[in-house]
Amino acid sequence: MAVKEKILVIGASGQIGVELTMALRKIYGNANVIASDLREQNPLLEGTGPYVSLDVMNKEMLHVQVIRQNITQIYLLAAILSATGEKNPNLAWNLNMQGLLNVLDIAREEQLTKIYWPSSIAVFGPTSPKHNCPQQTIIEPITVYGISKYAGEFWCNYYHQRWGVDVRSLRYPGLISYKSAPGGGTTDYAVEIFSEAVEDKHYNCYLAEDTYLPMMYMPDAIRATIELMEAPAENISVHTSYNLAGISFSPGEIAASIQQYIPDFTIDYKPDYRQTIANSWPQSIDDSIAQKDWHWKPEYDLEKMTKDMLENVQKAYAKSH
Ligand SMILES: NC(=O)c1ccc[n+]([C@@H]2O[C@H](COP(=O)([O-])OP(=O)(O)OC[C@H]3O[C@@H](n4cnc5c(N)ncnc54)[C@H](O)[C@@H]3O)[C@@H](O)[C@H]2O)c1
Repeated sequence: MAVKEKILVIGASGQIGVELTMALRKIYGNANVIASDLREQNPLLEGTGPYVSLDVMNKEMLHVQVIRQNITQIYLLAAILSATGEKNPNLAWNLNMQGLLNVLDIAREEQLTKIYWPSSIAVFGPTSPKHNCPQQTIIEPITVYGISKYAGEFWCNYYHQRWGVDVRSLRYPGLISYKSAPGGGTTDYAVEIFSEAVEDKHYNCYLAEDTYLPMMYMPDAIRATIELMEAPAENISVHTSYNLAGISFSPGEIAASIQQYIPDFTIDYKPDYRQTIANSWPQSIDDSIAQKDWHWKPEYDLEKMTKDMLENVQKAYAKSH
């Protein structure tokens, strides 16, 4: 059955897109997963399968591609992230909302089999519980990104209830990876710290030492996405977006974890505007519904992730020098 699916990944050149596209190509076959982005193709995707240049805001062109390529599933990853969104709220709202509505409309019209669209822990705000933040709770986001994600969750639910569109979603925590650079989120420090540790043995952190945030290593995030999308439809009880948890740590803790491998690594803390965003989010997430519905279980803790990240960042650094 899987062979018949033809998947379009929108935003495939981004931090998640590159790795998700490669994982989907392994499952569905290279030719059946079409990468697309507004930017040029990420070099890591070159030669691994089809690529089209596409603006998700151009609904007509998107519709033409879906029909022309016989697309059955869309993974929509194009978005403006939390920190960048605060610099340009209108742009973030327009792209994050209209992009999703374009995809949902086409999914309804063309009766696509499945849609994936990620939400974020940024839906939570200062009034949400800080520890083990539950699926259903007070949700009052203070960033334009969080507002757009929360509104998007309700659009997903609406298209499912009203028109039966099978759209599935995860509230990703901050994602840590070494393949494709992060795109302007509040949790990007946890990616940058590794390359700075390897190159300079020093990092200037824009968050305070004890800022705990929910995080996840990319292999876990990719596996969660695929496991959610492959779960039987009857197991899916959340049609807005699932809470998803991996690891919670602070800049101080990740620095200490890196120092186990690079003892002379040092870190300074100079909080900027991103501290306000981070302070508004929960420190840890309760994902018991994902565990129950589709048996979610993360594999990486802080130590296992640090070891793998450092090995890979060091390898890449050695290659380029
Ligand atoms: N990375 C994280 O830590 C994280 C956490 C929570 C949620 N998310 C969500 O996951 C999704 C992917 O995030 P990411 O980190 O890979 O982001 P990213 O910024 O790295 O990648 C997004 C990609 O979308 C492309 N894009 C932008 N505008 C476009 C348009 N109009 N048409 C087509 N493509 C366009 C960009 O060129 C970029 O390659 C987003 O919805 C984001 O909100 C990410």
